[in-house]
Amino acid sequence: MIELAIIGGTGLTTLNNLEIKHREVMRTPYGEPSAPLVHGKLCHQDVVFLPRHGHGHTIPPHMVNYRANLWALREVGVRNVISVAAVGGIRADMLPGRLAIPDQIIDYTWSRRHTYFESELSHVTHIDFTRPYSEALRQLLIDSARQLKLQIIEGGTYAATQGPRLETAAEIDRLERDGCSIVGMTGMPEAALARELEMGYAHCAVIANLAAGRGAGEISMDDIENNLVTGMEQVRCLLETAIPKLDSASCTL
Ligand code: HPA
Repeated sequence: MIELAIIGGTGLTTLNNLEIKHREVMRTPYGEPSAPLVHGKLCHQDVVFLPRHGHGHTIPPHMVNYRANLWALREVGVRNVISVAAVGGIRADMLPGRLAIPDQIIDYTWSRRHTYFESELSHVTHIDFTRPYSEALRQLLIDSARQLKLQIIEGGTYAATQGPRLETAAEIDRLERDGCSIVGMTGMPEAALARELEMGYAHCAVIANLAAGRGAGEISMDDIENNLVTGMEQVRCLLETAIPKLDSASCTL
């Protein structure tokens, strides 16, 4: 039984130290996931890795088949998902190169296939989403970061925007007034679908840039890419510290 999956975003399309066992092409009732699932061992634990944007990074955030991705992972026995993604920093302490483990989400996306509860229902289902992330998985990441003395921000509200364009400065002002501290394009519906499938889910955000209007001038892709290199190196260390501590019994929802 595979317990843990890592969904990698921009800047994390492979896991260097993953000892790959095999790749599995999956089909689901919702279509194909972003890529074949990569089964392997990381720090002696069975892990499945899935690059959210496909192996060649060809799938933009609004075109990711989130339903197929989560369904495929659940199908092979995954109980817990650590999602890694690049974000823009809104709050003053959310500086490029740092990591954040958010504890709340506001969903601004639209027209994405965002639920499994669509047809042939015997009753209407409303999942509880008061705390969108698994507290046990969040603590695992936070404790591991403390142990590594990483500059990590232990909380914050993730604004999920539609993309693929970045936001206007006024949109970021509005997100800040709403209480958001970071902004990204892939956090939803991924988190909600994981909850619908009763999988634990936590998000490790890598701050790649200051959000629109928070820095001087325009947001450059070069800056984003440079910050992601440093940030993702920290993510790899964090995962390799966290995974050996994973106690499957205590880490769900
Ligand atoms: N906005 C939305 N998504 C992002 C950003 C941003 O500034 N940076 C990285 N992903």
